[in-house]
Amino acid sequence: MSGYDYVEEAMFGKSIFKNESTMYPEFVPPELPTREDEIARLARNYRSLLGTEGSFSVNVAIIGDAGVGKTNLCKYTMNRFEQAANSRHINVKFLYYNCHSFRSKTAILRNILSENFRIQSRGFSDEEILDMLVKRLTKEEIRLIIALDEANMLHSEDILSIFHAGEYFGSEKSMISTIIISRPIEWRSLLNIPLSGHIHDQMDISGYDRNELLQILEFRAGMALYPTSYNDDTLNMIADICASSQNARHGLEILYRSGKLADLKNEPFINPEYIRAAKSDVYPELRRDVLEELRTQELLAALGIARRFKSTGNTSTSVDEGYENYVVICEEYDEESRGKSTFRSAVETLHKVGIIGKTVGPIDEGKRGRRAKITILDIPATVLVERIENILSKPK
Ligand SMILES: Nc1ncnc2c1ncn2[C@@H]1O[C@H](COP(=O)(O)OP(=O)(O)OP(=O)(O)O)[C@@H](O)[C@H]1O
Ligand SMILES: [Mg+2]
Repeated sequence: MSGYDYVEEAMFGKSIFKNESTMYPEFVPPELPTREDEIARLARNYRSLLGTEGSFSVNVAIIGDAGVGKTNLCKYTMNRFEQAANSRHINVKFLYYNCHSFRSKTAILRNILSENFRIQSRGFSDEEILDMLVKRLTKEEIRLIIALDEANMLHSEDILSIFHAGEYFGSEKSMISTIIISRPIEWRSLLNIPLSGHIHDQMDISGYDRNELLQILEFRAGMALYPTSYNDDTLNMIADICASSQNARHGLEILYRSGKLADLKNEPFINPEYIRAAKSDVYPELRRDVLEELRTQELLAALGIARRFKSTGNTSTSVDEGYENYVVICEEYDEESRGKSTFRSAVETLHKVGIIGKTVGPIDEGKRGRRAKITILDIPATVLVERIENILSKPK
């Protein structure tokens, strides 16, 4: 080997990124170009919480396709809402929950109590927990706004009972409001008449057109990259690619990956060649962090299924076949394999988070479930296998 220090070069060498962390999935930018109307509408919806003669609980649904900025819209607006209220001595508290990580009402309520009020609620029922929460909020006059992102991971009864808790002490003292966030198809599966009766405003967020995507790309590139590393052609080329999906994440991931490729090749500029390479590597429907939120057993199940697809080249498989592969994978990773019913519920979760498709009835329903077919979605099995293996090989 030469005396060249590749590690040091990677650590301190040139990069076209001046602020790479602004491209991370959890980053919420300081502005949301082209979403001004939605920001105002969302904030306005919660004005009644600020009233002096009692406040009314508000439930708003934010519905829209992948990457249209629902999560960002909610976090951006409500963090500011909380700050502005608090600076006027109105006690508003905004809490954000992604239901991929917090998968039940119980998990969310317990977390609210322990993280924010230092109350341990183990051993109490959901009703008792809600009761403790409402009492505490009432005593301290806190208006709580809970965002439930990816809300389709919860049962609609769970959401309903949170709505009810908000209205617990009659309409003058409503301490819990919510924001429900979901993609449209999932929302339809969740929505029922009792639930919709409690939604004060359903905000349908449309996809971005090419021009809007270009504006967003300009803003985000300006924040993340040195100006010499790209030009108008770069951003136009990316906007052309994601115009069909109308998905901002699609464009931003291509920008990020093509920038990383430039860095890797020690190039000072994002060449069209890197954009083309990045394009084929990005699956805009799949949130980058979705795999990381899965439990080990679910990852093993996903890997079993994906390996099956990879080895057979088929586009569908059965639960039984998937299970066989899963058992082998468990051995490989030195994990104890669980029974088929655990596997089925893992499949159900993988379906809900959009990693696999599924045809024919609910998988967890007895015999009928045996015939359920697992299908693969847009993301190629080889890519899925590679990404899951990466996560599983990381030290826990
Ligand atoms: N108006 C905007 N300005 C700047 N960045 C944006 C804008 N809209 C979306 N983004 C960025 O695009 C990406 C996707 O946005 P976000 O995560 O809010 O989408 P989403 O609608 O919640 O998608 P999903 O349904 O997949 O959860 C994020 O990186 C976000 O920062
Ligand atoms: Mg989101």
